[in-house]
Amino acid sequence: MAEKDRPRSEYDYQEALACLECIQQLVGDGSDVARLDPLLMTSFYERLTTNLARLRAAEQHPPFRESLQALLDECQHQQAKILRICRRPPPAKAASAARKDAAVRDGGGDRRPLTAPHRSRLRFSDVAGLEEAKASLAEAVIMPVQFPHLFTGGRRPWTRVLLYGPPGTGKSRLAAAVAGEAGAELFPVSAADLLSSYVGETEKAMSDLFARAASRQPAGRAVLFVDELDGLCRVRSGREEEHTRRLKTHLLQLMDGLLSGGSGGAAAATTFLLAATNCPWDLDPAFLRRFQRRVYVPLPDRAAQRRLIELHLGGTATSLSELDWQQLLAGTDGLSGSDLAELTQHALYQPLRELETATSWRRLGDGQFMVCEPSHPDAFTCSVSDIPFHAVVARDLQLSDFLGALRTTGPSVSQEMLRRYEEFSKGRGSATSLG
Ligand SMILES: Nc1ncnc2c1ncn2[C@@H]1O[C@H](COP(=O)(O)OP(=O)(O)OP(=O)(O)O)[C@@H](O)[C@H]1O
Ligand SMILES: [Mg+2]
Repeated sequence: MAEKDRPRSEYDYQEALACLECIQQLVGDGSDVARLDPLLMTSFYERLTTNLARLRAAEQHPPFRESLQALLDECQHQQAKILRICRRPPPAKAASAARKDAAVRDGGGDRRPLTAPHRSRLRFSDVAGLEEAKASLAEAVIMPVQFPHLFTGGRRPWTRVLLYGPPGTGKSRLAAAVAGEAGAELFPVSAADLLSSYVGETEKAMSDLFARAASRQPAGRAVLFVDELDGLCRVRSGREEEHTRRLKTHLLQLMDGLLSGGSGGAAAATTFLLAATNCPWDLDPAFLRRFQRRVYVPLPDRAAQRRLIELHLGGTATSLSELDWQQLLAGTDGLSGSDLAELTQHALYQPLRELETATSWRRLGDGQFMVCEPSHPDAFTCSVSDIPFHAVVARDLQLSDFLGALRTTGPSVSQEMLRRYEEFSKGRGSATSLG
């Protein structure tokens, strides 16, 4: 049957199915929702529900109605996920703030677990550039797992490494990749979460956390990742609350336990503490000193920028020539990893935005349809709503998509901030100390 002769309801059904597939793929298991655009997800969802409503209103055939119901159920399931994404405040900081508010309201704090340990699927190859940081971390975490016999006598694995650098340079991603590479369980926790826990219970929760991480053997080491460390470990001041001071002292003791094998004995040595901060200069020297390695995570260089864009394209086809890449990378100086991830997302949606307004289309050999110039010999005039949803193909990405996105993406890290990191690196950063 020719595409245009198929019943409209079947088109709608196929379209709904394809739309749902897109949503399922984008949302996935909900673990990496930070990169999703809530507006886009809402518009996908609205398009899907409108479509299903139209179908259900028109359709009389019982088996077809049944499969529509199944589709609708799945759609509602995905909607719940989308709503969670749209309502989700930005990670860690806002979540902690919300919990803090609740704590004030309730006269106490929340008692949920501090972390949800998991196995990370990320690998070093999923992190663009940062070769020095990767090498340091491989030495610290992966080599002792691969070659335990080499880490005997005086040669002991690093147990505490600090990652510092501008926002959005891949510190959290790197932490997940280290755990993934080492086959270790990742225990992510934010310092702000620690602080917002129930007063008096936090020390216990912290001890439990370290003990839980240490008990993850012999399957492999555990990576305990404390994000936004400066939230907790700032230089101590006289005005500091007693609660915070006690917490810091307790954390210092737990960190010492990691180095010496501590009260956890050999088990404690299987835990690797990784911490991250944007403000290393704010850290209390007592904490700084305890990190055996302090690793700078800088902005990506040109090669890393290209790899980063390629990673975030996720295999989507482009027509970029070598010359195009050069032109694109000439405009990305100073952009961080997250700036580039955002830029790539903008560029990726450009061909989709054109679909809505396109009026010239051509049919490809395999029954699919693509936007084309009106002057194309096979061009015919119609709008996207006249074409079965599943048969619509987006064009390859081109340089202009990136250049367009570049106009709205600027560096999020200032030159002054970069100078501050460099100064810190010259002084107290990156050096190896046995603390
Ligand atoms: N080197 C990189 N390789 C791949 N993706 C990266 C890299 N750097 C940043 N990104 C992307 O940028 C976003 C932010 O990265 P990430 O959260 O790891 O940064 P961060 O350094 O931890 O930032 P912050 O200091 O604000 O916590 C993620 O979407 C991540 O995929
Ligand atoms: Mg981070």
